Amino acid sequence: MGLSKNAITVLERRYLAKDINGKVIETPEEMFKRVANHVAKADKIYNEKADTEKKERIFCDMMSNLEFIPNSPTLMNAGRELGQLSACFVLPIEDSMEGIFDAIKNSALIHKSGGGTGFSFSRLRQKGSSVKSTGGVASGPISFMKVFNAATEAVKQGGTRRGANMGILRIDHPDIMEFISCKEDTSEITNFNISVGLTEEFMEAVEKGSNYDLIDPHTKKSVGTLNAKEVFDTIVTMAWNNGEPGIIFLDRINKANPTPGLGEMESTNPCGEQPLLPYESCNLGSINLAKMLKKSKGKYEIDYDKLGKTVDEAVHFLDNVIDMNKYPLDEIDKMTKLTRKIGLGVMGFADLLFYLGLPYNSDEAVELADKLMGFIDDRSKKKSAELASIRGTFPAYEQSIYKEKGMELRNSTTTTIAPTGTISIIAGASSGIEPLFAISFVRNVMDNDKLIEVHPYFEEVAKERGFYSKELMERIAEEGTLAHIDEIPEDIKRIFVTSHDISPIWHIKMQAAYQNHVDNAVSKTVNFRNEATKEDVEEVYTLAYRLGCKGVTIYRDGSREDQVLSTGKKE
Ligand code: CDP
Repeated sequence: MGLSKNAITVLERRYLAKDINGKVIETPEEMFKRVANHVAKADKIYNEKADTEKKERIFCDMMSNLEFIPNSPTLMNAGRELGQLSACFVLPIEDSMEGIFDAIKNSALIHKSGGGTGFSFSRLRQKGSSVKSTGGVASGPISFMKVFNAATEAVKQGGTRRGANMGILRIDHPDIMEFISCKEDTSEITNFNISVGLTEEFMEAVEKGSNYDLIDPHTKKSVGTLNAKEVFDTIVTMAWNNGEPGIIFLDRINKANPTPGLGEMESTNPCGEQPLLPYESCNLGSINLAKMLKKSKGKYEIDYDKLGKTVDEAVHFLDNVIDMNKYPLDEIDKMTKLTRKIGLGVMGFADLLFYLGLPYNSDEAVELADKLMGFIDDRSKKKSAELASIRGTFPAYEQSIYKEKGMELRNSTTTTIAPTGTISIIAGASSGIEPLFAISFVRNVMDNDKLIEVHPYFEEVAKERGFYSKELMERIAEEGTLAHIDEIPEDIKRIFVTSHDISPIWHIKMQAAYQNHVDNAVSKTVNFRNEATKEDVEEVYTLAYRLGCKGVTIYRDGSREDQVLSTGKKE
């Protein structure tokens, strides 16, 4: 099937079925068949005579060929007892003891099944405000985040994978300064990514250098002011310091809310690519772009015909997942089926650029991203419309922005760019739309396993061009970048660029090009060199805002001890 050793290691650890003694009792082929069989069954709901065997074969081939892979929970749980298939959830947190602990319980159920949860803590009253029933004093959102964190830690061992959370606080919450620095100590709140929810009003105040109001979540009255630029600078400093907090543009996210009639979006899933309404869930899936190529006159080009057909089947697959999913809560079942959001995205974009001979940091690559994602998004809408004509529109259609546009769709969103952290290892593809971290690198996967990888196409080219040697490959692994290796021809250096060869501005330009054609959001980390300054970070944040991104996450190399990816070379 063309699975790499790393892929098999990952699959055996968490994905393949095991007996009670922990012995693997399923092959990867059988896993894909189990998933395809389960997901294809949904066709029968809409047409008793549907040829589900044929559909199963199509779905199975698409996965076995590593052309399309659904998010991890679908691979792990489809056709098995847990049956929970989504990666992304957002849960509301009401400002009451009951509300807070309900959310903790619900997130534990989701984590157990491999899903990740996002929360906005913005509705919780600020630290020091009064608690009516006891006459006591509220401890504030950050102290409760620590309780959520501890619960996640405890569930971790028994679950299918480590539970992940997103914590959001609005910029106008009175406890915002405590929130911004709550992860300054990286040993705190480790099971959370945190992002500050920025508003248009705040961004305008930053520009003007003026003050803005802090709002009591209960009374909705101003309880103080802060200088916007100073707060913004603190966010930048903290992010420069260790990558957290990220930022999300709340008003922009809500401007793109397909169903404003159902409420406001307050949070995203853990990695930021999927804004959702409270109690919504979303299942993701990604097309491996490196498998969407054909050769013409000795040169690689994108096979748009194959890509289009893959989009069609992927949308069909993801829509079926909504029906075949076992939801952890009735509220989630109900909300998810009202909007029927799916998130089709891509992985292997950096690989694709290598094959096409385009440097990631070039206008050509950004233009290609724009065209490619435009094609995928457009095609996904066409397929969703076709499904709507057979299966009906998503039930909240009447309250949606698509009603006005007269676009009858089956899904209120169709596209998302996921990080593809694990499924890209399974597919042997570069993650999401990220550039390669290194041509050769050490990957720390799941609990301290180390795996060394050299990019296969680079190896192929090196052999073809006659500069391949084992020693050279080892040196590249050591260096992480080709930039300082004299034996490598200049044109090769220009194409096989890695994360740190690419200036942060190009990272953001690429993110924005994708965001242009994505309903939901784009998972992207803007990588900085260790020497980058706070001004560099600020520039990227500002540019992300200007170019229409929905949020940004940055990371400065070496700024954390527990970083997931590292070059061979020790700093
Ligand atoms: O590659 P895979 O399908 O495993 O996941 P991903 O694309 O890296 O992440 C997609 C989403 O899955 C994240 O944004 C989270 O919502 C969720 N996730 C999680 O809950 N726990 C993890 N350890 C990894 C991802």
